[in-house]
Amino acid sequence: MAVNLAVLASGRGSNFKSILQAIEAGDLDSSVKILVTDRGNAGALRIAEEYDVNSKYIPYDRDNRRAFEEQAGDLIEENECDLIVMAGYMRVLTPYFIRRFENRILNIHPSLLPAFKGLHAQRQALEYGVKISGCTVHIASEDMDSGPIIAQRAVPVFDDDTEESLSERILGEEHKLYPIAIREYAEKLELI
Ligand code: GRF
Repeated sequence: MAVNLAVLASGRGSNFKSILQAIEAGDLDSSVKILVTDRGNAGALRIAEEYDVNSKYIPYDRDNRRAFEEQAGDLIEENECDLIVMAGYMRVLTPYFIRRFENRILNIHPSLLPAFKGLHAQRQALEYGVKISGCTVHIASEDMDSGPIIAQRAVPVFDDDTEESLSERILGEEHKLYPIAIREYAEKLELI
């Protein structure tokens, strides 16, 4: 039995790609049924095309967040997705969506949560002066970058790190961690 995924992404889509590569390599028994994006120019759309994944751009209206989430939610249900994976999705999900898919939404964040929530987590880590940072996969809850942690990976922070160099080191771990965490969580829910 393979777990059916929906991916929500706003940008470059490198985590999305790492999931597709893990599926291709046979490391994750899964199928991405749909990519949903709030940005018409998201790199993730090109990746979907490359891997022949069904995709949908839904324009996002800050004053009517519910409209986006209803459309996305309907599509996700129509595609019979078991789990929703946020991969660089840059909007905050409303309680409506979180409740509609309770415990079925995963997120990846580039810090060791609960430290450095929100935007520019790597910059926050450098500014704070931590010596270790990393990435976290967690179940999405109503508060941003919160919810039960599924998996974490640590990386060292070096004195001469820049935001770019630290982000790159963390991203390398994100790409390894996300497919593993999805598999572990899907197994726990007996979806695979
Ligand atoms: C990643 O660092 C992820 O942790 C964060 O946004 C970034 C998305 O990168 N939530 P990409 O679009 O997957 O390349």
